[in-house]
Amino acid sequence: MRRTAPVVLAVTLAAGLAVPAAAAPTPPAPPIPLGQVVPAPVSVHANTAVGYTLSPTSVISYDLGNSATRQVAQWLAGQLRPSTGYPLPVVPAVPFVSLPGISLAVGGADPSWGSEGYRLAVDNGGVHIKANSANGVYDGVQTLLQLLPAKFAAKTAQRGPWPVAGGEIVDYPRYAYRGAVLDVARHFFTVAEVERYLDEVSRYKINYLQLHLTDSQGWRIQIDGWPRLTSVGGSSGVSAGGVRAGYYTQADYEQIVRYAAARFITVIPEIEGPAHSNAALASYAELNCDGVAAPLFQGVGPSPHEYLCLGKDITYTFLDDVIRQVAALTPGPYLSIGGDEAAGVSAADYATYIHRVQAIVAKYGKKLVGWQESAAAIDPAGALIGLWIPDPDDTRLKAAPAAGGKLVMSPAFTAYMDMQYAADKPAAGVGNNWAGYIEVQDAYNWDPNTVQDGVSGSGVAGVNIPLFTEYVHSPAEIDSLVFPRLPAIAELGWSPPSTHDWNSFRTRLAAQAPYWDQTGVHFYRSPQIPWPTR
Ligand code: ACM
Repeated sequence: MRRTAPVVLAVTLAAGLAVPAAAAPTPPAPPIPLGQVVPAPVSVHANTAVGYTLSPTSVISYDLGNSATRQVAQWLAGQLRPSTGYPLPVVPAVPFVSLPGISLAVGGADPSWGSEGYRLAVDNGGVHIKANSANGVYDGVQTLLQLLPAKFAAKTAQRGPWPVAGGEIVDYPRYAYRGAVLDVARHFFTVAEVERYLDEVSRYKINYLQLHLTDSQGWRIQIDGWPRLTSVGGSSGVSAGGVRAGYYTQADYEQIVRYAAARFITVIPEIEGPAHSNAALASYAELNCDGVAAPLFQGVGPSPHEYLCLGKDITYTFLDDVIRQVAALTPGPYLSIGGDEAAGVSAADYATYIHRVQAIVAKYGKKLVGWQESAAAIDPAGALIGLWIPDPDDTRLKAAPAAGGKLVMSPAFTAYMDMQYAADKPAAGVGNNWAGYIEVQDAYNWDPNTVQDGVSGSGVAGVNIPLFTEYVHSPAEIDSLVFPRLPAIAELGWSPPSTHDWNSFRTRLAAQAPYWDQTGVHFYRSPQIPWPTR
């Protein structure tokens, strides 16, 4: 790399002045070590004898004929152009010609890397990402962005250089499912706020967003023919800390789905029942067993009007309308019916409800997602079951994998992002503690394969990382609960168990801070992590 030293020297000598020793330019910072990445890659072979530095002549090339990869290339160029000030043209690859810069290639990759795996190789000629699909290329690009100085994320031109350490990473996920659950029902978050959340979690290779659209305190999705769901049910929310009301039009929801898809994140809409239903009951009198609309509920915990009326046909007409419309707006294979915390109805009524709703979900072409309580009643074939309280005595839960279901692990006491780190941390009134306090090390030190007695191996689809928002009032509060713990659980979902090492993790996690500072993510500076000084 050419430095400015000779120029400075020449100018100084031409002026006839002595060169003061102190004027020697500072050498550029060394590149970020290859492998200083979260989640930890499968394998890292650093080669400090080589490396690549982005320059004004770098290009971003992609495989002609793979339009999804061209979109990833354009997205990457959009990330890097404002900060580097380089043109970074996006061009089709030329056979047998090595263009200087970043190449994104699909095909010829090792089949064992699967659809999300990739190889990232860095030599003096450039950065070469190869994968079996555009999704894998995108994952490799996210790794590359962690290897560039954090100021790549600035919106204005920054001083370089932009070095990438030499060597090779080969990487692919441990689990196919790595989700975030975002509760927009208790406190509503706008489309732009959800998009920002998608950007933040995508950096850690999250690939599902379970959007908790309905609960007792709010209904957040427009349904044609049922306008009061949003005009009444959408006007509410938890009052603690200030109501955040609102709802998504169907176009808004489609925008979220599109934005997520561009980041290879699949949206799973969640329509709660038979409990968690006060907002619907407040919107329509006929959904109540007594035919009287429930009052809106803005408290925390179960409302006095928590359950849909299970004996009325209108309940199932309503659910058919809702699920039909939401399924039609959702390209992904899954739809969540909630199903949790329904102890207030009989087991028989609960089972009848779940059977009818599962049939509706299937009728509209979706696979069922339900919280673990639903395992008592669903047909598990093809379903995802969300574990939130491990239960060694739950025989239906343990039997689900043999019947074709898989569990998604989000044990509350290590994975619920709404739990505080410690008393009044990140702040008084932010977050909860019913499942205890969860410091970063607690979030990191568990194994999805051993969390539920009797369910392991292929019975585990992966991990979910829920943020319920009873006590979360702003995007900044989302940040402070989710960062830095979400990356810990994202790593449990992605990285091979052989990489699991707290000291390695906390060092790599600390290295995320400059990026969060650069992008305005209000992360909690946990005392367990050796953060760089600001
Ligand atoms: C839940 O926390 N009720 C899934």
